[in-house]
Amino acid sequence: MRGFVLGVLLTLIALVAGGWWCLNKGYISFAADQEPSSLEQKVAMSAVDIWADHGAGNQKNPSPVTDNSLTAGAQIYMDHCAGCHGLPSKPTSQFAVSFYPPVPEFFSEAPDMSDAQNFFIIQHGIRWTGMPAWNKTLSDSQISQVVGFLRNTRKLPATALKILGPEPATPPMQMHMTIPMK
Ligand code: HEC
Repeated sequence: MRGFVLGVLLTLIALVAGGWWCLNKGYISFAADQEPSSLEQKVAMSAVDIWADHGAGNQKNPSPVTDNSLTAGAQIYMDHCAGCHGLPSKPTSQFAVSFYPPVPEFFSEAPDMSDAQNFFIIQHGIRWTGMPAWNKTLSDSQISQVVGFLRNTRKLPATALKILGPEPATPPMQMHMTIPMK
């Protein structure tokens, strides 16, 4: 039993020392244009999810969603978020994929977090990513409008869509040419 405990301890010390050595030698990359190891991805992503879960609790989005609140939310989104998170006419931008972790593009994939988690993340941002904290720029009621907007990106009223600019271009009609037979 003592041998086992000692073995576990030595392994832990070796892991920490090895990690520390790599860090000090500059062998751990912080580049945004490189995928991190799957271990780092797993640890970091689940840590963010657990933190958002813990911080958000069960709070409901405080204000009800109406056409007016969605339109106000669209304006906030357009002014502060669209450059990174995309628009109906530009669901993915080259800028967005230049981040690691990549920016979630809300018009290609609707956000899947709860309102409470979105509220919490928008308030506080996510450190070491491009996601800023908005609690110094936006009031709670503005955050709640943009949270309602994110929940309803697939069913926005015309007034909100107008703010977001042109609808996605429909693909050009297929031309069928008939070649005259000689
Ligand atoms: C400079 C770019 C940038 C801007 C501007 C920005 N974000 Fe983000 N946002 C990010 C990045 C990057 C992530 C992903 C972080 C991660 O994966 O941990 C993110 C994540 C999020 C998430 C979590 C989504 C999820 O499913 O994980 C929400 C919600 C969000 N942003 C909302 C907003 C809102 C609302 C605004 C405007 C008020 C905004 N963001 C402005 C870069 C940005």
